[in-house]
Amino acid sequence: MAAETSSDDLDFDRAAPARVYVLLLGGRTAFAADREAYAKVIANAPDAGAVAKENYKFAGRATAQAVQEFGIGQVVNIGPGIQDSDIKMPSVEQCVRAVAPDAVVVAFDNDPVVRTHARTHSQRVLFGDVTDLDTILSNPALDDALDLAEPMVVVLAAVLHFVDDPAAVVAGLARRLAPGSLVVLSHATSTDIPDKDTRVGGMTKAYDDATSRIHFRSEEEILGFCAGWKILEPGLKDVAAWGLPEDEHGQLGEFVRVVGMVVRLPGRVR
Ligand SMILES: C[S@@+](CC[C@H](N)C(=O)[O-])C[C@H]1O[C@@H](n2cnc3c(N)ncnc32)[C@H](O)[C@@H]1O
Repeated sequence: MAAETSSDDLDFDRAAPARVYVLLLGGRTAFAADREAYAKVIANAPDAGAVAKENYKFAGRATAQAVQEFGIGQVVNIGPGIQDSDIKMPSVEQCVRAVAPDAVVVAFDNDPVVRTHARTHSQRVLFGDVTDLDTILSNPALDDALDLAEPMVVVLAAVLHFVDDPAAVVAGLARRLAPGSLVVLSHATSTDIPDKDTRVGGMTKAYDDATSRIHFRSEEEILGFCAGWKILEPGLKDVAAWGLPEDEHGQLGEFVRVVGMVVRLPGRVR
């Protein structure tokens, strides 16, 4: 294996999105600053843990469905989050393996704690920053495991709200991926939140001193940065409802909402 590009600056004095999220999921891999940020999130949105769990399930469900429906054999999961043994739900990789045992699944994260934890669970997460797609798609440590000439599924679950310019990320993917590729994405939204200024403002503040700030965007903004991509059925929905019959919906967020969708780069017919 070629050497892995890495950035291992550990900073435990500031909250990190991956560690706040693992607390929301019921895990324990976190430090004091993460617990402080988590408490502020929960104070503004008591349902944030339930919505995080629905988001986690959406990522696995939507990715497995995309792989199966379009017969795609390669998945790039960007920002997979921390592997924590207290999370009792199947990961994106496990959901993909259940429908496509031979698929190539690779994961990238810019948080060193995510990568270290993956190693302790005998998994591999490479260093990669979604704002620098070449560190991901052309990473020498992949040893050409990905074929950029063939369609792939890129997973961006609950990642783009930690990025200042998500439209640039999605446009960068459109330039680099083969036609027929898909992106599974979810994003925290400011649409339809009661007492929005207080709640969204409070959650945003929780990440003020974190390693990445959070941006709640409207549903229109989220749809806007995927212009030019084909939005697959059922469109942009609450993650708890996406792709499920009504009687199987999970807990819809009231004080915090995360919406998800799957988009496809037009051009190649299956
Ligand atoms: C809220 S967690 C979501 C985890 C997982 N995708 C899920 O939905 O269950 C956000 C993840 O994105 C990662 N992340 C945030 N900004 C990133 C960036 N610029 N490049 C790569 N990963 C990033 C975080 O470290 C964390 O692992």
